[in-house]
Amino acid sequence: MQRFNWKINMQHQISDAKALQLRSVITSDGQVVLSLVKEPIPALKPEEILVRVEATPVNPSDIGLMLGAADLSRAWTADGADGPQLGAPVPAAALQAMRSRRDASTAVGLEGAGTVVAAGSSRAAQALMGRTVAAMAGGMYARYRCIPAVECLVLPEGTTAAQAASCFVNPLTALGMVETARSEGHTGIVQTAAASNLGQILHRVCLADGVPLVNVVRSEQQAQLLREQGARFVCNSSSDDFREQLTDAIAATGATIVLDPIGGTSGGQILSCMEAAIARRPGQVISRYGSDVLKQLYVYGSLDPRPIEIPRDIGTAWAAGGWLLLRYLKVVRRETLDRLKARVAAEITTTFASRYTRSVSLPELISPEVLSTCARPATGKKFLIEPWKDC
Ligand SMILES: NC(=O)c1ccc[n+]([C@@H]2O[C@H](COP(=O)([O-])OP(=O)(O)OC[C@H]3O[C@@H](n4cnc5c(N)ncnc54)[C@H](OP(=O)(O)O)[C@@H]3O)[C@@H](O)[C@H]2O)c1
Repeated sequence: MQRFNWKINMQHQISDAKALQLRSVITSDGQVVLSLVKEPIPALKPEEILVRVEATPVNPSDIGLMLGAADLSRAWTADGADGPQLGAPVPAAALQAMRSRRDASTAVGLEGAGTVVAAGSSRAAQALMGRTVAAMAGGMYARYRCIPAVECLVLPEGTTAAQAASCFVNPLTALGMVETARSEGHTGIVQTAAASNLGQILHRVCLADGVPLVNVVRSEQQAQLLREQGARFVCNSSSDDFREQLTDAIAATGATIVLDPIGGTSGGQILSCMEAAIARRPGQVISRYGSDVLKQLYVYGSLDPRPIEIPRDIGTAWAAGGWLLLRYLKVVRRETLDRLKARVAAEITTTFASRYTRSVSLPELISPEVLSTCARPATGKKFLIEPWKDC
């Protein structure tokens, strides 16, 4: 009884307080403005918990929400009532595409992790008191976040918040895409930007599950990084003989699906090599429509913002589409999702580990120097925000 009262008191203490959070708005005069503001912590509903957010990553999707197409070379800074502010103009052409966000202040930070410091009255919420949990609840660039207990991933005892910060976006995308490939009957995969944080996770998942994987990278350094991690098929797109290397690797693995976060000409070029590799199969008939083997391209990012190009030497049995985690989470069966989440929790320090180049506090994040570094997605350059750093 005494323990229960302590929790209630703790909750009241916290509820009286305001918590720092990062918000982004696109103003009607065409500026993105990032501000640190103090918002009251809401009273907990029975099934909710209050998480003291201790670590939250900067993913490319967070950069998109924070900055959109803002021109950081013309950024300005100011002191707001609760902390620093940063603004930057959005080019007129991009402003039109972002009109739905005009003057709508949005809390930033898709995912993160921390300690449960208060819980609603339900048994499920109370059971999480003191545990390290991760969540993809949005608004995670904050010191506290109120979240339904059922949405949290509970980490094994001893897991730190920094280890648990990236449990959702990249791990579930890697696992979800491999599940999609399996369910569509593909037995081998080609992935591009394979040295990215997500690419390395996908590599480890495929290695553990025995799924043949061809990794496409764009430098010898990245190729080396993946080989050191046990990758067997690594093709460097900046090599003169890239097309031959890739066709050989696809022939050796039987890969028929491409997972491509780049766009532009990247995926189409791989479909073309796939058709060439399929033509080498003994007994494979190639009609005037090409092979009858379905080649699938999923584009799941826009690292190259140019239009996607598909060449015409890939036959007629092909399909191309987008792949989005948020959609996958809506359509995947509950049992499958629970299995994937349980695997992430169990293997968060191995298969699904993310590495960070630098940790920053919330005020440190709002500087042109830090934001322009974060805004360039690059190999091994991921930032972690620690909202309680320097407190
Ligand atoms: N659709 C979804 O649901 C979903 C979910 C999660 C992530 N994503 C996407 O997945 C991608 C990877 O995320 P991450 O967190 O793993 O990123 P990351 O660790 O920052 O890595 C980015 C990688 O992309 C490479 N790259 C950048 N521009 C490129 C280009 N034009 N051509 C080829 N390679 C390029 C970088 O290589 P260099 O070092 O050589 O620049 C680096 O290896 C992002 O595009 C993200 O938006 C999508």
